[in-house]
Amino acid sequence: MLKAKKQNMHNEGFIPLSIPSIDEETIEEVAKVLRSGWLTTGSINERFERALADYMGAPLVMTTTSGTAGIHLAIVASGIEPGSEIITTPFTFVATANAIVHAGCVPVFADVDLNTLNISPKAIEDKITSKTKAIMPVHYAGVPVDMDAVYKIAASHNLRVIEDSAHAFGSSYKGKKIGSFGDIQVFSFHPIKNITTGEGGCVVFRNEQEADLFAQMRFHGINRSIWDRFKKQSGRLDYDVVCPGYKLNMSDIQSVIGLYQLKRANEMNNRRREISAKYSSAFENWDKVFVPDKALYDFTRSGHLFPVLIDLKKTSLSRDEIIARLKEHNIGSIAYYYPVHLFTYYREKFGYKLNDFPEAEDAGCRVICLPVYPDMTDDQQDFVIATFKKILKE
Ligand SMILES: Cc1ncc(COP(=O)(O)O)c(C=O)c1O
Repeated sequence: MLKAKKQNMHNEGFIPLSIPSIDEETIEEVAKVLRSGWLTTGSINERFERALADYMGAPLVMTTTSGTAGIHLAIVASGIEPGSEIITTPFTFVATANAIVHAGCVPVFADVDLNTLNISPKAIEDKITSKTKAIMPVHYAGVPVDMDAVYKIAASHNLRVIEDSAHAFGSSYKGKKIGSFGDIQVFSFHPIKNITTGEGGCVVFRNEQEADLFAQMRFHGINRSIWDRFKKQSGRLDYDVVCPGYKLNMSDIQSVIGLYQLKRANEMNNRRREISAKYSSAFENWDKVFVPDKALYDFTRSGHLFPVLIDLKKTSLSRDEIIARLKEHNIGSIAYYYPVHLFTYYREKFGYKLNDFPEAEDAGCRVICLPVYPDMTDDQQDFVIATFKKILKE
């Protein structure tokens, strides 16, 4: 039974695209940390990292301040040098590509498969050059990419794989949790995600040296954590600076939210899956929308988002008009995503243009994500389904 507080910032009656589920226990635990005198990265952060590793079946988990920071530092820590090309999808949040740029690398886009809106393995192969050093698939909406195909390509071209798993906390591919296998996975704990720390993220490593470098990069390039030094209480400045690091460490305030979210991760994800299944069956055999979750392998979704592709030939409204109509009925929805290669920076800096990635562009014109969040009630979902169907018949 979900115990999250129902009061929220939205107008009474508004059904948001998403809202985090924070229970009273979490709020009390945050208050305890606030009273404890230790707010920054400390023992609770250590506990959170261990709990994340246990939950995912992952060897080494390092937290940071966001998924974006996680992607950036994962690229640096894995030794991918500036100037390298990293192949990724244009159908993602801009953070994926921006983080590649932050690391001094070049985002090379490869088109998606409309069945899942995930990067197409065939399209990846076509983009490999002598400068390619990594593939960065994104498990869009929490439906996993075909990872066997991606790792096969990576192995035959000696490439690293950094999985942008921002949408995939709790997703499984062929019975294995995302995070429990492969090379490197990056998760986001933004409030819209499957679990949240307010803002935050984490990276799964399998190589201790890379994890150590990540730990140094997230904290000024210092070779020992502040908590480690505090525990020893030596009072001396007994650390060295081994690189010009950043300041991207997760606080104990964020970590305690994460610890208590993690306790409810299965329960919250199951509810997301239940909502997704109900949408799927409501839209089955309905020719006005296509649900892009048609992966040909066994998977469990995280239920992060529920996207549909509208058949614009079967309605008189544009996609944006449909979103506006939903809003008039107090329903939040969003067009995730506008393809990244069409943003001004990416056009101007890398020369991308319209028609470069026809599938991603087609999806970008037709996609709508409907509300999914753990505390969404059956009545709310019934209202969304009925209203959406009514609007599409106009
Ligand atoms: C696919 C994807 N990658 C990366 C990120 C970045 O995560 P964060 O907001 O934690 O920086 C997001 C966030 O929405 C995302 O959706």
